[in-house]
Amino acid sequence: MTEGVDTAQLGGQALHRVVFGAEEVQARVRELGREISATYTSADRLLVIGLLKGAFIFMADLVREIRLPLHVDFLVASSYGDRKVSSGDVRLLYDTGVSFEGRAVLLVEDIIDTGTTLKWLIPRLEAREPRSLEVCTLLHKRLAPLEVEPRWVGFDAPNEFLVGYGLDHAEDFRHLPYIASL
Ligand code: IMP
Ligand code: MG
Repeated sequence: MTEGVDTAQLGGQALHRVVFGAEEVQARVRELGREISATYTSADRLLVIGLLKGAFIFMADLVREIRLPLHVDFLVASSYGDRKVSSGDVRLLYDTGVSFEGRAVLLVEDIIDTGTTLKWLIPRLEAREPRSLEVCTLLHKRLAPLEVEPRWVGFDAPNEFLVGYGLDHAEDFRHLPYIASL
């Protein structure tokens, strides 16, 4: 199909097209890491919170590009199930036990689609009184203006269903090193 696609990883399933290749993604993640490193200082006691499962690969690569001391933790918020369309019903399936008080919290998200997840989550995290709360999303579909826009966006995404680099469809495709559309 396209350069960099290992058909063994797809198990016979077809992709529509590669949207962001592995090297393009890596280069952008390095840039984001540099920008984030220049924004905070050690005094911020940076706490990077990944939204599972979608953010797990992005988060793993991003924190390795941040030249500051930091801690990591995770949240599991679910609104999609196995469907391709957001149900609008967000639930926190796993919450971090770490205190946010006085710390700079950076929430790492895979993709902003309708914005439902962040709209639900951000006020709940703000209520924990972090020193600051910012969002870094790998992909942003920009379907509508959000009440709180992410501070860092990896790529503006086309309005297609995207998989790979952590993003799934019914749990498939998370392990692809590039981002493709179905
Ligand atoms: P939102 O609440 O509609 O902004 O959707 C957020 C979550 O839905 C993301 O964190 C993803 O897990 C999932 N999602 C949204 N769009 C896509 C997509 O194109 N591919 C894979 N997952 C998606
Ligand atoms: Mg998902």
